[in-house]
Amino acid sequence: MERTFLMVKPDGVQRGLMGEVIRRFERKGFQMIGCKFLLPTVEQAKFHYAEHEEKPFFGDLVDFITSGPVLAMVWQGDQIIELSRMVIGKTKITEALPGTLRGDFALHTNRNVIHGSDSPESAEREIHNFFKEEELVSYRKLIHEWM
Ligand code: TYD
Ligand code: MG
Repeated sequence: MERTFLMVKPDGVQRGLMGEVIRRFERKGFQMIGCKFLLPTVEQAKFHYAEHEEKPFFGDLVDFITSGPVLAMVWQGDQIIELSRMVIGKTKITEALPGTLRGDFALHTNRNVIHGSDSPESAEREIHNFFKEEELVSYRKLIHEWM
């Protein structure tokens, strides 16, 4: 079982897409184990996107991610890191296929609705930027006994 950090970005919240995002991950079969609605601090935003510090879009990215509330979540499931990025769609908006969250809802690479971790290492770093371990609630899905 793997876990990942997913975040509905400020544009997704403003556009009323929180439910749509949760719905897509729920129906895929993934399990939410943590959820917070919050306004990220500049420190949290910089830590979250630390790998992009040298990129030309870094400043705008930090400004954007701190511009309004986000829905920060931790989800788990088999191979969730790779699979959730397929549900999300490609970063470059012209490559995000219809059927993916970005393909269906985003028009611009810098306003692309949702974040998902890209490796187990970044997932753990990103999770602990927003959650304490004791805030995560891992529970047994009873449906697994029925199926
Ligand atoms: P990145 O980690 O490459 O993409 P992803 O979100 O798919 O993991 O980039 C982080 C975010 O930075 C991306 O979601 C949107 C923004 N971004 C830009 O604004 N311009 C760009 O050219 C790139 C590559 C990313
Ligand atoms: Mg990334």
